[in-house]
Amino acid sequence: MYGGGKAAFSHKRHAPLKLSCAYCHAQAKTGERAGLPGEAVCRSCHPNEALARFPTTRVYQVRDMVFFSHEKHSRVECAECHGAMYEQDVVTKPFRATSMKACVECHKERRATLACSACHELGQ
Ligand code: HEC
Ligand code: HEC
Ligand code: HEC
Ligand code: HEC
Ligand code: HEC
Repeated sequence: MYGGGKAAFSHKRHAPLKLSCAYCHAQAKTGERAGLPGEAVCRSCHPNEALARFPTTRVYQVRDMVFFSHEKHSRVECAECHGAMYEQDVVTKPFRATSMKACVECHKERRATLACSACHELGQ
């Protein structure tokens, strides 16, 4: 297990609480990065337990050469890219790939931009 026997964070275990994603990922609709919660957020419900450090994984990650912004996708449901998070324990593989093919596939379907410069800075 992670962190010397301490349990890793599981979305599934927290599903019954029906917390909004923004409770822990404050920037998910307004920032480039969704962001992760600070320890204080966990401590409001787990004041004394030993908690594993996170992130334990970075399953969803694009390379530096790619521009991705959550704010620009605020009208797309989280689940379209991340799947039903509250049914997942520890995330080990992406629901939707972060490859160029996967980005472009949806952009074609939704008539979103296919311009190279939207996702890549020119000259990179
Ligand atoms: C709003 C309250 C709340 C917040 C905020 C919260 N938790 Fe929990 N957490 C719970 C409850 C309730 C359970 C018990 C669920 C169950 O019994 O399956 C739980 C279960 C857990 C468990 C499983 C413990 C075990 O027995 O295996 C871990 C680990 C955990 N939380 C870590 C975290 C971390 C890390 C954070 C911050 C990112 C966090 N929690 C934020 C309420 C919360
Ligand atoms: C109680 C806090 C909490 C809530 C609520 C929460 N998350 Fe998370 N989320 C976390 C933590 C902590 C991590 C880092 C887990 C790790 O790396 O071990 C995380 C990681 C993620 C990741 C990144 C996975 C990766 O490895 O790249 C995604 C995507 C995600 N959450 C989506 C969501 C979505 C969508 C919702 C709402 C349906 C949601 N989360 C609700 C705490 C939360
Ligand atoms: C169009 C696809 C898409 C949608 C919609 C989307 N995400 Fe993401 N998400 C990604 C990609 C791609 C990454 C990796 C970004 C990077 O590496 O900069 C990511 C990364 C994350 C992470 C990891 C931490 C971080 O800040 O990079 C979290 C947490 C997360 N998303 C939560 C959410 C939540 C919550 C929503 C809904 C409010 C959401 N995402 C909507 C594609 C999406
Ligand atoms: C599930 C569908 C979907 C996926 C997957 C997706 N996008 Fe998008 N993307 C959209 C939509 C729809 C828009 C237009 C949003 C709007 O206008 O509200 C958009 C807009 C954008 C924009 C803003 C373009 C502009 O004109 O400002 C960028 C940049 C972008 N996406 C990059 C990416 C990258 C990089 C990936 C892959 C890592 C990705 N997208 C994956 C649906 C998607
Ligand atoms: C909607 C977003 C999006 C658009 C539009 C887009 N790309 Fe990409 N591109 C990506 C992502 C995401 C990756 C990173 C894939 C990965 O990490 O495997 C990538 C990777 C690449 C790579 C590196 C390939 C490699 O394997 O090293 C090149 C070169 C590239 N893109 C060129 C282009 C060109 C040229 C265009 C215009 C015809 C374009 N891209 C349009 C998202 C996009």
